[in-house]
Order: sequence, then structure tokens, then C-alpha cells
Amino acid sequence: MGLKKAKVFTVTSVKGGTGKTTTLLNLAGIFSKMNKKILILDFDLYSGAIALSLNIPNEQDIYQLMDDLNSNRFKMIDPYLVKYNENIDVIPSLKDPRNASKINSKYISVILSKVIHRYDIILIDTNYFLNDITLIALDASDEILYILEGDPIDLKSMATRLTIHKDMEKENYKIILNEARTKDKEHFSKSDIKNVLKENVDYVIPKHFYIKNIDKYMLDGIILTLHKGIINSHKKGIDIFKEIANALLKEKNDKK
Ligand SMILES: Nc1ncnc2c1ncn2[C@@H]1O[C@H](COP(=O)(O)OP(=O)(O)O)[C@@H](O)[C@H]1O
Ligand SMILES: [Mg+2]
Repeated sequence: MGLKKAKVFTVTSVKGGTGKTTTLLNLAGIFSKMNKKILILDFDLYSGAIALSLNIPNEQDIYQLMDDLNSNRFKMIDPYLVKYNENIDVIPSLKDPRNASKINSKYISVILSKVIHRYDIILIDTNYFLNDITLIALDASDEILYILEGDPIDLKSMATRLTIHKDMEKENYKIILNEARTKDKEHFSKSDIKNVLKENVDYVIPKHFYIKNIDKYMLDGIILTLHKGIINSHKKGIDIFKEIANALLKEKNDKK
């Protein structure tokens, strides 16, 4: 039996609140429908919202896992994998954000090595600042997904980030413009963005996918792309997530 090895995708951004967590969960929903086995790693240590968004317990969080690894109490990874549905497991971010500074980034690779052969896909959520933990996640990723809101500051920071990628010769990223996060905001066009970034926008989550009562779904722990009502009423948006998910699976991800 061949050993399976998960593809690792990290969702990140260069400013806060662009829709990273929502996008990650929507992709998890699509992969789950494809019957892939998915692990979500919530590495947004300061404001990790995956467990809250999915209504799952976060007593066994990444801090607990790291602390057990550190003190040799760790026996197996299973107790730390919190189940959402048949296909999606989660390692939640910190229940108590005061522990964030105690997370030692050297354990990130250890944690990845314990899960990489158990899943088809690992989705990593991050904060927007480039700390050690995010850097390790980016480095371990087959593909990095940047979620842009597309305002001027966002675009300028993104342009800087792209020069960092060029310097590191790590060009395995996709740029996703999220037009769905706010209803009335005007956005730069794809060609404006191309002029600033000198780079194409790979995908646009259309305005059409703005979900008015998104908070209610979140309170109920619902993934939008798994919800029948949303699937019926927001097909155009759902199709984008399908397109991204399919492309990620096909891509010969050029991780070096
Ligand atoms: N498609 C959408 N429709 C309506 N609101 C959205 C949509 N996507 C994201 N949001 C809202 O935008 C805010 C930021 O989204 P979130 O995914 O938490 O961003 P990040 O993880 O980058 O901080 C949240 O309040 C979220 O509910
Ligand atoms: Mg988030």
C-alpha cells in the first residue's frame, strides 16, 4: 500500500479581515464533497476562529499539543484531531490567546510530520503578519493562496510581498480577489490590480457571493459550500470555489 501524502495549502493575506478563514472553510467544504480527507490547521494564533466558526470544541488546542510534545507526554496525534464531519478534522488554534507567545515554531514541522500521511489535504489558516509560524507554513505549502480585498494599502503591501516571493524564488502562490466580503464597496478592476502588482489575479470571488446573514451560519457552525440553500442561491460563487479546488488538486504544485 502506497503511503499517501497530503497536499498542503496555506491561506494567507497581507492585511487583516480579507476573508481568509471564510475562504478556507469554503474550500474545505468543496474538498469534503469530493470525499477527500481534510485536516484544517488553525495557525492564526491570535484570533484563530476555525473552531468557533465550526462550533467544535477547542479544549484540545495547538498549545496543548505543543506542550505535550515538549514535555514528552505526547503519545499519538489522534486525541488532538477534532472531528467536524466524516471528512474534515481540525487542530484548533489557542483557546487562550495569552499562550500564543509560548508557541515554539520548531514544533510546527513536527506537527506537520505527524499528520501529513493521514490526509489528502491539509489547509492551513494564518494571521496576516509574517511571523515564524506563518513562514514555516508557507515553506511547507504546495500552494499559497493570497486573499486580497483590493484596496490601495492591500495592493501596495501585496506588491512588496510579491518581491519577497521573487527573492526567495518561491512562486507557488495564487492571488484571489475577494469582492464578496462587503456589499457596497467599489473595487479596483482586475486590470488596475494587474498594473499595480504586475501580476494576474487568478480568481475573483464575485460580489454575488456576499452572504447577508453570514454570522448566523457561523453561529450554527455551517460551512457555506455545504449548505443546500446557499448552494442553490449562490451558484456562481460556489462554482469559483469548485474551480479553485479542482485547480489545486490538478496543479503539479511546484514546491521546491
Ligand atoms: N462572502 C461573504 N459574505 C459576507 N460576509 C463575508 C463574506 N466573506 C467574509 N465575510 C465577512 O468578512 C469578515 C472577515 O472574514 P474572515 O474570513 O474572518 O477574514 P480573515 O480570516 O481574513 O480575518 C467576517 O466578518 C466575515 O463574516
Ligand atoms: Mg481569519
